[in-house]
Amino acid sequence: MPRHVAIIMDGNGRWAARRRRPRVIGHRAGARTVNLCIDFCLERGIEALTLFAFSSENWGRPEDEVGALMKLFLQALDREVGELHRRGVRLRFIGDRARFSDAIRARMDAAEAHTAGNTALTLSVAASYGGRHDIAMAARALAEDVAAGRLRPEDIDEAAVGARVALADLPAPDLFIRTGGDLRISNFLLWQLAYTELWFTETLWPELDVAELERALQAYAVRERRFGLTGEQIARDVPAAPPHQTRSR
Ligand code: FPP
Repeated sequence: MPRHVAIIMDGNGRWAARRRRPRVIGHRAGARTVNLCIDFCLERGIEALTLFAFSSENWGRPEDEVGALMKLFLQALDREVGELHRRGVRLRFIGDRARFSDAIRARMDAAEAHTAGNTALTLSVAASYGGRHDIAMAARALAEDVAAGRLRPEDIDEAAVGARVALADLPAPDLFIRTGGDLRISNFLLWQLAYTELWFTETLWPELDVAELERALQAYAVRERRFGLTGEQIARDVPAAPPHQTRSR
């Protein structure tokens, strides 16, 4: 069983287009699938779920779509946070929060504070997130530490970078899922996905169901995770893994 699942929720626009409906209808349908995934993780005891909701690049979409997505986030935050808290979900946001409106930022901060003590599931929503930006910000933090005399350049290693990227306090994602048929990572968690098992499906995000999530888990269960070692070493269970990669099985 993966401890941490990371998902690119793709295909909302095509789902709507196939029904000759505006794209925002697809995003609304997609919001329901988010709840399905949260339930699935809670039921299966998966500790962490990270969802790519809005990329740094998505700000460039048509103004009405960006506006509709912002409205949807606001509604979802107002509607869902109480129930998520009741179910023991710790909610967090990763990405460049400064680009959101004051109203959304305030609700993100409040939702994080309200759910901070929960332990059933850590739900990280990547919003205005880009993997390259994440790594660039880690580099900036390292430079600031060096400039302030808190860190020596020779102490900069994978652990030092890894401690400064998003989700540093969680095990690295074990399983990555992308819906919608495209076979790429699209600037999501570039550092964190180094040894993650990748699973893709043609299914559009609003149509993802429990049976398909089960298929992803079954595929994951038969993967041999070698972390750069040999199959024989893994069979002998050599306790070696690259820095910052938690071996979950
Ligand atoms: C990608 O589909 C999806 C998005 C850019 C938005 C994801 C948002 C949601 C699922 C809704 C709410 C989420 C939360 C966390 C409240 P696309 O528009 O790129 O689809 P396409 O590839 O078919 O055009």
